[in-house]
Formats: sequence, C-alpha cells, structure tokens
Amino acid sequence: MTPNQELLFSFLKIPPNGEELPFRTLTAEEKAAFYVDLTFLESAIRFMQDEQWLLAKQTDFSEQYQNFLHGIFSSNLLSLQYLQELLAAFTAKQFKSLVKRAEEQERYFIAHIRQMPVDEQRRFMRKALQLMVQVFQHEHVLVQGGNIRARSLAFSLYRTFDGLDQIFGLDYSADIGMKTDLKINERLYEGAGLGVQSSYSTLLTALREIKPSEGCRFIDLGSGYGRVGLVIGFLRPDIDFIGYEYVKHRVDISNVSTAKFGLEKNVHFYTQDLAEKDFKIPEAEVYYLYDPFSKETYLHVLNQLVEVSRHRRIVVVTKGNARLWLQEVADQEGWPPGREFDQGNLAIFVSQ
Ligand SMILES: C[S@@+](CC[C@H](N)C(=O)[O-])C[C@H]1O[C@@H](n2cnc3c(N)ncnc32)[C@H](O)[C@@H]1O
Repeated sequence: MTPNQELLFSFLKIPPNGEELPFRTLTAEEKAAFYVDLTFLESAIRFMQDEQWLLAKQTDFSEQYQNFLHGIFSSNLLSLQYLQELLAAFTAKQFKSLVKRAEEQERYFIAHIRQMPVDEQRRFMRKALQLMVQVFQHEHVLVQGGNIRARSLAFSLYRTFDGLDQIFGLDYSADIGMKTDLKINERLYEGAGLGVQSSYSTLLTALREIKPSEGCRFIDLGSGYGRVGLVIGFLRPDIDFIGYEYVKHRVDISNVSTAKFGLEKNVHFYTQDLAEKDFKIPEAEVYYLYDPFSKETYLHVLNQLVEVSRHRRIVVVTKGNARLWLQEVADQEGWPPGREFDQGNLAIFVSQ
C-alpha cells in the first residue's frame, strides 16, 4: 500500500476523533489526493455492495471475498485498481459496514477542509480537480481500448465528488421554499438544489473533449449555482467565463464562491432572464446548456446562437434533452451531428 492508502486504511478503521485525525499534518495537495482516493473508494464500495448482494444470494461471501475483489477490480473497476490492495486489507465482514464508515469519514474530512485558511482550501480544490481529470482520463483510455466494461463508466459518472460543493460553499438549502411567479413560463427547477447542477464528471468530460482554446469565452446559459464556472475558474483560469441565471439566490451564491476563491477576474455570474427580448447573448466560442428553457425561450436563444455561428465557429455543449434541440439546429444549419457521450447525456455540437 502507498503511504496515502495506509492513511486511508487507518482512517476507515478508527472512529473520528478530532485531535488525532491522521491527515492533519498533510499539505493541502496531499489532502486533495487523500480526498480523491476516499471518495472513489466510497463509490467503488457502493458499486461493489450491489454486486455482492447478488453474489451473496448464491454463495458464502466470506470465502469468496478476495476472489470477488479480484474479479471486480480487473473488469468493472479497472480504472481504480490501485484501491484493490486497500480493500483486500479488510475482512468480508468489515467490508459490509464500510460504506457507512466511508460516508461518515468523508463528512468529517470535509468539515476539516472547510476550517482551513482560504488559501489552503484553494490549493486543495485545484489539486483535487486536477486529480479527478487524471482519473477520468485514465478510465476514458481504458474504455476506448475496450479494457473495461461500459458499466463502470456509469459508475464513475455517478455523483462521486458532490462533497466538493460544500467547500465551494454551494448551499442548496437556498432552494427550499422557492416560489415562482405563476406567470413565468420558465423551467427554474424550483427546490431542485443539488439536482440542478451538472455532475463533476460530466463537466470534466466536456472540458476534456472540447479543449477550449486559450483565452476563449465560455458561456453557461442557465448557470444554476455556478458549478460549471467555478470548475473552469480553477482548471482554466485563462478562459473568460460568463454564467447567466434567472434565479437570483443561485447567482448570489455563485458570486460569493467566486470571490472567496479569488476567481472574479475571469469568472462572472449575472442574474438574467435569457427570454428577455432586448437582451443579446454575447459572442463566445463555447455555449453550455443543461436543459434550461421553455420552448419559447429555447427558440429565442437558439436563434441567437445560430446568428453567431454564421460568422464564427461555435461549440455547443448539451446535457440531457437539450441535445434534441441542438440536433434540430444542426440538421437545419448543416452542422455535423453532435458527438455523444454517456448515452447522449452529454453531447458536443460544432458549427461548420
Ligand atoms: C438544469 S440547470 C443547469 C445549471 C448549470 N448549467 C449546470 O449544468 O450545472 C438549468 C438552469 O437554467 C435556469 N433557467 C431557466 N430558464 C432561464 C431563463 N429564462 N433565463 C436564465 N436562466 C434560466 C434555471 O433556473 C436553472 O438554474
């Protein structure tokens, strides 16, 4: 086991105890590596527990435990193989209670990070995001090479890293009790909180695939709580990011986080109704849409994007059903079909 994994092993074995936290002396970057391992381990265990439940029906799980680990890490969880030795150090009996322990410890760990000076939190976030990029890239290569079962992709596209939002300070409780004027015919995801955001893995996959050019502008149309812009601010500080969002409390939270991490030079969030007829969406290289609009607003917004695409190349990233709208645009305008990932959940369109 690597020193980090030994630390993780002891962290999962002992109950939380403020003063004796085994990671207290690590640097911010080492804590980021520890966090990434911890959260992947947590998701891996969750995934394995579903599989184990099926296996336990037919056979004695205690005897099968090591074989089970070997089987699963050489197929579905190949990209996380480095965690196999760590799990092998537990017994089958301990394994069964491990998800709960890992969840508890993650909460505990995040509370610790939130108490660190902001500069250290910034270093932690940057490193954690960079490491996540590497793990997703590694998995992508394995999937492309046919070395890994597609199902594991769904596993890592799951909401593995949502805990980072607490460090960003994205307080989704602001959505509770949210009311909308009934006259407004928009899709505002009232009360959706966390569910309003693209997952970290979707964002990182999109950034990897579109490779935005140096210094370009990237606009999130309906930016929610701002995760897209915050991630870009950390990973691509050269990009001029703008997020427009109808719901003011979401924009306020995005702006507080932007200021906390000193990203305000390149990351801007505005409260804006994109259905407003006299508002013109600025030109950009990349536009991002995650199911934001009513039909009328889609038509109004897409007309503007088409207008821009007639004199410059644009990239439109869609998550969810926004893809269907863009497919129509691509057909009408003679753009190539969008490239699809995760069964079309993420799609990337490029104008001619
Ligand atoms: C599903 S969320 C996507 C959030 C973010 N883009 C992401 O992917 O993480 C869609 C957002 O679009 C916003 N929205 C809907 N209609 C809008 C409009 N007319 N003008 C601006 N924002 C709008 C909603 O309030 C919601 O926060």
